Amino acid sequence: MSRSTLINRRRFTQLFGAGAAYLATRPQLSLANSSTGSATSVSAPAGMVRLSSNENPYGPSPMAVNAMSEAFRLAWRYPDEHADTLVEMLAKLNGVNRDQILLGDGSGEILKLCAAAFTGPLSAVTAREVKLARPTRGASLSFKPGRGKLIVADPTFEAILNHAAVNRADIVKVPLNASFAHDLPKMHAAAREGLVYICNPNNPTASITPKNELRDFIAKSSPKTMILVDEAYHHYADSSDYESVLPLISRHPNLIVARTFSKIYGMAGLRCGYCVAQPQVIQRLRPHQTWDSVNIMALVAAIASLNDADQVANGRRRNSDTKKFVYGAVTDLGYKYIPSQANFLMIDMKRPVTPLIAALREKHVQVGRLFPSLPNYMRVTIGKRDEMETFVSTLVTVSA
Ligand SMILES: Cc1ncc(COP(=O)(O)O)c(C=O)c1O
Repeated sequence: MSRSTLINRRRFTQLFGAGAAYLATRPQLSLANSSTGSATSVSAPAGMVRLSSNENPYGPSPMAVNAMSEAFRLAWRYPDEHADTLVEMLAKLNGVNRDQILLGDGSGEILKLCAAAFTGPLSAVTAREVKLARPTRGASLSFKPGRGKLIVADPTFEAILNHAAVNRADIVKVPLNASFAHDLPKMHAAAREGLVYICNPNNPTASITPKNELRDFIAKSSPKTMILVDEAYHHYADSSDYESVLPLISRHPNLIVARTFSKIYGMAGLRCGYCVAQPQVIQRLRPHQTWDSVNIMALVAAIASLNDADQVANGRRRNSDTKKFVYGAVTDLGYKYIPSQANFLMIDMKRPVTPLIAALREKHVQVGRLFPSLPNYMRVTIGKRDEMETFVSTLVTVSA
């Protein structure tokens, strides 16, 4: 055993106390079985600590849970009125008009719609399709439909690459720069028509692209290039160099901002997200969408979440406190990490990470998968404190 490993183990014992390494289980959902009165447990594989999907371990707002309980009896209804209410609330929250909001079955659906509308040879939307999309009065298509490439960072959240590939789009990957920010000058040079996807904070690196650079990039962009900024982790970012680009939408008809209820609102299993853009952009996305794609449970939960003044503040504080603990533990073990502006952390393991991921999994700790362009980095979701203690203790064991 190496000296550093011995030191690590000693430091580890100081950190946690003897015998503190135990397996934390994911919270179990009990589903009452109405006919038998028994309960069915649903969870990740038994005993698995899941730190692989950037979920919010504290779950949804209690107000969202109550709202869903009360909404069980509404399951027979189509969700139109609830969707209208949520759109209204989101418009108010973001200082835009209702026709600038499109709800999605998770923000993943928004990404798919953007790929469908703006990438690939099939991206042209016909006038008939636009009419079918319940157009907003007065809105018009002010630009030609894109035929386009998808321009993304590498690495970034990959869902949209898959959608664009299905759409037979060319995909241009531009490596993140040395600060793990989007390399916007290179992305600008690659962009003509089509869609630029900017994930800020970025998944999997949890890094941000500085606000001045992003503002300049949007200001300089050609109106023919659509820019989708994915702000799934917006609420976790606290750097003075970060800002949402949502206020820029009024001046930029080529800008779309995607948000989700899966992260800070703890609703990943419910599926609700949305985007904000100018009305004519929303009209270009809508024809690609299934009608009523957000279900009534997700809608009532989202509405209640927005009414819970504590959900965002509590989520940020808990994530930040536990992240500080993980920073300290990882540093004590001799590893560096990319400072995180999200609810996950990229740790430089200084060696290929694939065997470590597998070894952790053997010991019931599931971390993020390999990201090929950063083969030595491990992505770990910031779970609850006991889960992170288990992660650190297991990491010590498997990296010995
Ligand atoms: C950057 C990013 N965008 C979008 C999503 C999809 O989220 P949703 O659950 O809203 O579909 C994720 C999920 O992890 C993500 O990391």
